[in-house]
Amino acid sequence: MEPIKGEQRDGQSEIRKLAILTGGGDCPGLNAVIRAAVKTACHRGIAVVGIQDGFRGAVEGDFRPLELKDVSGILPRGGTILGTTNRDNPFAYPTQVGEERQVQDRSAEVLDRFKAEGIDALIAIGGDGSLSIAWEFAKQGLKVVGVPKTIDNDLMCTDLTFGFQTAVATAQDALDRLHTTAESHHRIMILEVMGRYAGWIALYAGVAGGADVILIPEIPYQLESIAEAVQRRARLGKHFSIIVVAEGAKPLGGDMVVERTMSGRTDPIKLGGIGAKLAADLETVTDMETRVTVLGHLQRGGSPIAVDRVLSTRYGVAAVEAALAGDFGMMVALQGQDIVRVPMAEAVHKLKQVEPDDPVLNAARSMGIEFGD
Ligand code: F6P
Repeated sequence: MEPIKGEQRDGQSEIRKLAILTGGGDCPGLNAVIRAAVKTACHRGIAVVGIQDGFRGAVEGDFRPLELKDVSGILPRGGTILGTTNRDNPFAYPTQVGEERQVQDRSAEVLDRFKAEGIDALIAIGGDGSLSIAWEFAKQGLKVVGVPKTIDNDLMCTDLTFGFQTAVATAQDALDRLHTTAESHHRIMILEVMGRYAGWIALYAGVAGGADVILIPEIPYQLESIAEAVQRRARLGKHFSIIVVAEGAKPLGGDMVVERTMSGRTDPIKLGGIGAKLAADLETVTDMETRVTVLGHLQRGGSPIAVDRVLSTRYGVAAVEAALAGDFGMMVALQGQDIVRVPMAEAVHKLKQVEPDDPVLNAARSMGIEFGD
């Protein structure tokens, strides 16, 4: 099979220096990946440089050496020691020219700088936005290995992105807490969770947290179905209900709720507000008191849970091993129990959403959890 342009399986690269960057929204486990990659590289006598604030640092030359001492103690730490951004795409980089702010293609500078610094390959830790940029560089000849990061779990070709399971655990904890207050006050409690255009966090948190209704972008909802589910519960003596709504959920025939649009970002649309809309609509229809909690960035912050630490560590090790094997233009991925390498082009060509035959979705439906369709 002809390699896709950007996929470079030369199998003989000699790697002496690796660069590593974290891009896009942060998530728990970023530091665990960095630590594992640096430790694995150091063990093989390979130097590592960290690039500050994702691709911004690649354009501006904001690099720093990463040695064992730099990654000591960072395994449990949330965020990223390298900083990150979901702006600053080098192929469309905001640049001040005199009085004027222009958008310029600065990618050639990045390639030149890597050459000047003696960087043989880049490990890019990111979601679809950052990995799409990394893939553009791969097509221009940069040796790149991708690591799938995002709480949204919406990258193709991998069963799990790291950070997702910690976000689900945080949302599940919130649901446990909402349950007790919902029951005391006989209220409908709505928890709005992140996830962009995919319903993974809502689905998994809803199942883990015993939600009565789960609303996800993949299944447009009808208000009457939700109201009926809530009222059915009341008839059975359950005068409270727990609803998890993904930020990207929308009514049948309606639109997602956009909090604001911000130019210059990898994705200019910032979703948010569906929980409040649903609460207002439901109160009108059911006459039950309804409250909304927007979990927001609590899902992204804090220490990764054990399974994410293990997954992040495996990804960090595997990324260095892929580079040493000369397997570039690839993303490390989890398939079943195994860490494999998949073409980055396939991983970023579309978002992974919840399919109608998803086993967790089916299990939830079998138990009578309402999806609003
Ligand atoms: O992609 C991760 C994510 O947390 C999404 O779930 C959410 O829509 C978005 O990032 C929020 O972005 P920001 O940090 O810019 O508010």
